[in-house]
Parts: sequence; C-alpha cells; structure tokens
Amino acid sequence: MGETRLLLKHANVPGIRHYDAYREHDGYKSVEKAFTMTPEEILEEVKVSGLRGRGGAGFPTGMKWSFLAKPEGVPRHLVVNADESEPGTFKDRYLMEFIPHLLLEGMIVSSYCLGSNASYIYIRGEYAWVAEILEEAITEAKAAGWLGKDIKGSGFDCEIYVQRGGGAYICGEETALLESLEGKRGNPRIKPPFPAVKGAWGRPTVVNNVESIAAVVPIIMMTGAEYAKIGVGRSTGTKLISACGNINKPGVYEIDMTQTVEEFIYSDEFCGGIPNGKKLKACIPGGSSVPILPANLLLTTATGQPRLMNYESLADGGFATGTMMGSGGFIVLDEDQDVVYHTYTLARFYRHESCGQCSPCREGTGWMEKILKRIDEGNGKMSDIDLLWDIQRKIEGNTICPLGDAAAWPVAAAIRHFRDEFEWHVLNPEECLTRNYGLAHY
Ligand code: NAI
Ligand code: SF4
Repeated sequence: MGETRLLLKHANVPGIRHYDAYREHDGYKSVEKAFTMTPEEILEEVKVSGLRGRGGAGFPTGMKWSFLAKPEGVPRHLVVNADESEPGTFKDRYLMEFIPHLLLEGMIVSSYCLGSNASYIYIRGEYAWVAEILEEAITEAKAAGWLGKDIKGSGFDCEIYVQRGGGAYICGEETALLESLEGKRGNPRIKPPFPAVKGAWGRPTVVNNVESIAAVVPIIMMTGAEYAKIGVGRSTGTKLISACGNINKPGVYEIDMTQTVEEFIYSDEFCGGIPNGKKLKACIPGGSSVPILPANLLLTTATGQPRLMNYESLADGGFATGTMMGSGGFIVLDEDQDVVYHTYTLARFYRHESCGQCSPCREGTGWMEKILKRIDEGNGKMSDIDLLWDIQRKIEGNTICPLGDAAAWPVAAAIRHFRDEFEWHVLNPEECLTRNYGLAHY
C-alpha cells in the first residue's frame, strides 16, 4: 500500500503555493468550519484525533493545548517551530516550500482555539527562501481576509509573523527558540515552567512543530474521530517521513504508519530499495538523535514481529533493540558504510551545536568527538571504546535540555550494536584512512 495523503494531497497541483490555486482546492475551508465551532469543541477534536507532536517527542498535541494557562488579561501565543535542523530531517521544509497556505490555515484554526491573536513561525536561518515564500503567502492570505482584524466576521483577530533564526540547531529546542524569538541568545531554559505556563515574553505559549499544526486542517475537516481511525494504536493519522541515504528514491513520503520498515525501504512506492543491489546495513529512522539499528533489529521487533513505521513499533524493545520515530528523518546505510565514521560526523555536529551552558554536554560532546576522530583515523586504543561508553552515560539525563541526550544516544547505539566495527578500527589502523564512504544524499 502506498502513501496516504492528507497533508500532501494537493502538493502536485500546479500553483498550489499561491492563494488562488490553494483556495480552489478546499483551501481555508477548515477555518470556515472552525468559526462555527467553539474553541473548546476544536480542542476536543484535536484530543480525540490522538495527534502526537510531529517534531520528534510525540507528545499528545491536545494534551499540550489543554495545559495552556489562561490568566485573565494576559495575551497567549502560538509559536510554530520551523527550526527544522535535525540531520536527515527535511519534511517541514517540503511542506512550507510547496504548500505554505496549509501551515497558515492550520495556524489560524489553532490560534482561534488557543486564543492567540499574535502567532509566530520561527524558521531556521538557512531556510531563507522558504521564509520568503511564507511571507508571500501571509500577504496573500491577508489580502483575502484570512488574517487581520475580525477575520471573516468571526470577531477573531489574528496576525502571523515570520521570525528567522540565525542558524543554530539548539534554537529548535523550544525554550531556546523562545529566547531567540525574544531577541536573546538561544540558550535553553530549565523546565518547568513549561512554555504552556511561561513561554514567549513570559506569557502562556504553545510551541508546536510545522507538521503538527498542518495536521489540524484535516482533523477539523474530517473530525478527530475519523482521523484517529487512520494509523495503528496510539500512532494515529499520517506522518511525513523524509527519506535519505543509500536509497533509490530519496524524498518526503506521507505514510499512515501501518507499513513495515522493510516495505518502506524496498517498495517502489517509497524508497525503492538500495542502489546497486547493495545490502542494508543499518538505519537511523528518526533523525540523527535517535539510536541507529542494524538491519536485523531494524526489520524485526524484540518480539519477532515485522517492525512497523510507527511510534510504538520503532521503539519496541527500548534502546536495547529498538529506536524511535523521532522527527521522521529516515537515514539508510548500505553495507559499505562505516558506522564509526558516521558516528564521528554526528559527534562533531553535536559538539558544534552545544550551547555550552552545562558541563556534561559542553565538555562531553567535545571529548566524544576527539575520541571518535582518533578511532576513525586509526589512532585509537581498545580502552577508548569503553571510555566513550562511559562519557555518553555521564551525559545522558544530566543536562538542561535534550541536546545532551541527543549527542549521547547515537554513540551509545553505535557501540552497542557495532562494537566489532570500533574494534576493527583499532586493530587495522593503516586501513582506516583508505576507505571510500560515498554516502550519497547524506
Ligand atoms: P519533551 O518531551 O521535553 O517535550 C515535548 C513537548 O511537550 C514540549 O512542547 C513540552 O513543553 C511539552 N510538555 C511536556 N510535559 C509538559 C507538561 N507537564 N506541561 C506542559 N507541557 C509539557 O521534548 P522536546 O524537548 O520538546 O523535544 C525533543 C525531541 O525533539 C527529540 O526527541 C528529538 O527527536 C526532536 N528534535 C527534532 C528536531 C527537528 O529538527 N525536528 C531537532 C532536534 C530535536
Ligand atoms: Fe546547552 Fe547542551 Fe546544556 Fe542543552 S544540554 S543546555 S545544548 S549545554
């Protein structure tokens, strides 16, 4: 079975990036419907839909919205997290670049539900052209009366602002994002208080991923109960997956989360298999922060079932034999890839992106990078492998924000599942630097 397109339904319609074509294809109908409902009724639909945050954490969206504090006379905000920076993840960019009005439509409905009269899209600095596309879409939506004062006679006022980041991965962490939005250095805050209580400018704020907010459109149109019928178990609705690495058809796919991982990799409707008939070695299925799994554990769960492309099945077995859905950045590695080298490149990334506030992350990411570099280059010792293991253990759970965990998990999983490869590097120093990795699209 191929894609189930709710969000990308009209992605291939010529001109869908612009208002006229978007409106002709049911655009802004969910806003019309939402204005016939109360905010409480919309919240109930989102809760019933079972929608889980699509940025990576999978936190129930309806529950997050219900946590929003509503003190008398204090403005509330919706902030869309478009700081998509997780290596391997590019699904939000696709959505914003090709169907920007879908995000705006979802934002208007969500803002109405949450009582946000000023809502923000915080977009990563490198997506400069996408920010321009969004600005243009906002101008079009405003001209058509979907933004501004008393939208379509509803009595609801809403403005949407685009704020560009400066290119720091850490600003995708919601509290760092809020600091940056306020014009400060993007250092994560200690939680609690959660943004739902004390967010942008100290006001109650909901921070949601682009895809989560876009999903509000089909939820309102089809009802939460119908949306919840798609998918399996607590993995309801559809999920965008950005697929890359050693596959024949890299790209963004919208799945209903019932596919097996094997089907997703090998079916022509999705990744189309591995180039040149190479064997599957491993996969990082949810963006670089989630544990890498070798092929045998990737395709089959701890209980011997075919592993499915959804939250529960990917996590089956915990970190011993499972991984995470994460942000849906699906990175495939063929038999020629060197796990030590790729773990080193990820460690280098996390060291570079650490904000430096807490010692285990600031120091630990640097140590991990140095040790991985020397092992990768054939200058490592056997004891370095245990040292690496020890360092990642000391980072995990001991930091202000999840970047520390995100740096530790890939190292832990690589050692857990590919220790022999680390040992090979130590035992074969002269061969380490003559390898040809050639990971296209990575
Ligand atoms: P989290 O689990 O700490 O929080 C999830 C959400 O639920 C947050 O918005 C938080 O404010 C809210 N929340 C949780 N408990 C709450 C409570 N008691 N009251 C009110 N609100 C509450 O995870 P976090 O830090 O938001 O995200 C981490 C994930 O982000 C990682 O798993 C990683 O996969 C993903 N990620 C995605 C990136 C991307 O480019 N899409 C980049 C980096 C990380
Ligand atoms: Fe900064 Fe790393 Fe601490 Fe997060 S874990 S606050 S990125 S030093």
